[in-house]
Amino acid sequence: MKSFPPYRIQVVKEIPVTTRAEREEALSAAAYNMFDVPARKVTIDLLTDSGTGAVSAAQEAAAAAADRSYAGSDSYYRFRGVVDKLTSYPHIFPVHQGRAAERVLFSSVLRPGQLSLSNTHFDTTRANVELLGAEARDLPCVEARDLDSAEPFKGNIDLAELERTLSGPDGPRVGQVLITITNNGGGGQPVSMANLHAVRELCRRYGVPFFLDAARFAENAWLVTEREPGYRHQTPREVAEQAFALADGCVASLKKDGISPMGAFIGLRDPELAKRCEVNLIATEGFRTYGGMASHDLERVAQGLDEVLEPDYLRSRTEETAHLARLVNDAGVDIVQPAGIHALYLNAGRLLSHIPPSGFPGHALACQMYLEGGIRCVELGSLYLGKFDAGHNLLEPAPFELVRVAIPRRTYTLAHLEYVAEVLAGIAKNPQTVPEYRVVDAPPLLRHFNLKMAQAAA
Ligand code: F0G
Repeated sequence: MKSFPPYRIQVVKEIPVTTRAEREEALSAAAYNMFDVPARKVTIDLLTDSGTGAVSAAQEAAAAAADRSYAGSDSYYRFRGVVDKLTSYPHIFPVHQGRAAERVLFSSVLRPGQLSLSNTHFDTTRANVELLGAEARDLPCVEARDLDSAEPFKGNIDLAELERTLSGPDGPRVGQVLITITNNGGGGQPVSMANLHAVRELCRRYGVPFFLDAARFAENAWLVTEREPGYRHQTPREVAEQAFALADGCVASLKKDGISPMGAFIGLRDPELAKRCEVNLIATEGFRTYGGMASHDLERVAQGLDEVLEPDYLRSRTEETAHLARLVNDAGVDIVQPAGIHALYLNAGRLLSHIPPSGFPGHALACQMYLEGGIRCVELGSLYLGKFDAGHNLLEPAPFELVRVAIPRRTYTLAHLEYVAEVLAGIAKNPQTVPEYRVVDAPPLLRHFNLKMAQAAA
């Protein structure tokens, strides 16, 4: 039987419809940087699944009744109750969003010159490691190199490489191992429970703390129930609880699987580390019972964390993404296989094979989707991951030229997604008409957000 979303739409927001001329003007005024296009000029916004999902009536009712007390509010205790049940970490700190959790935790764990090892660091995660003078090193599994293979857990860390690093000359420099579930920088692919178990054993053996970046813990848990033998009959909540239990702690943005506009938490076992984080939290984020979150957001995430683990919700969200993946494939556009949940990663390098990495095929495809259909998404290719010289010339391309098409939770209907596929099909009919792009200006850190680009002369 076909699944369907376990909710109906009760409040809606109009979306802007623009002309081709308006979009050309908006994109050129934004110097071809998607982050600088005003949302009122975007029809379908697939830039991110972060903080962009629809909230439920239950979340809004809880938010309206939130307790604004500075210390020990009822909203904090409700939030604590939900997170305690899920994670079993004795020390929990609310933080206003994921990157703040990273900053508070990493600055209490890492020293300059140390190494952070990960399946893939998300961009703010990498920046927070590097700002401390430490090195962020990604060790994705070998299966991740084949974009077309149907391997179920391409988000895994390379265990052999992890052990080699821990036991080799760099071993004493390793300050933490951080596993991102699901692996957002790595095609949105899940991490298996077997991989998490093995990481835990290696971290124990070498005395290194093991943390989760659990922004999409529920979606990872769902994919484990679908793909990993031995977990088929477990609920996503049971799987998520076991994942949290394997690690020494976590950072978790709640703008994704908290289905909330704002929020995050840090979970820890080590009481000494928790004390160091708490001082930093109180000085820079807020008192330990709100940590930079408004009481109404504590309520929204407490409710959202329960809703996100409902099997009917996860099943229908997964099928929605799979449906878009099939339409996109039928249109002649390849994606990183197999489709995950929060996003599709389009293989722009293959579709726009006439554009070399130095002409940024991923960026070119993202711009074309905007120009043709008012759809906003973002490049994950050489512009994001490549190495450049001071004159903004590409020295070393990224391994792949991708575009991430993120799907906000409970926000768009199948008709919206079918429209996205139609726009892509139009581009795929005449890919060679899509122009190249060049970098006009770019900062050294977090280049993506502050780029200025131009279309290369035809
Ligand atoms: N970790 C992961 C895996 C993320 O995807 C994000 C954010 C963060 C940490 C930071 O959390 O936004 O609450 O500060 N990802 C968004 C995205 C922005 O579009 O993928 P935050």
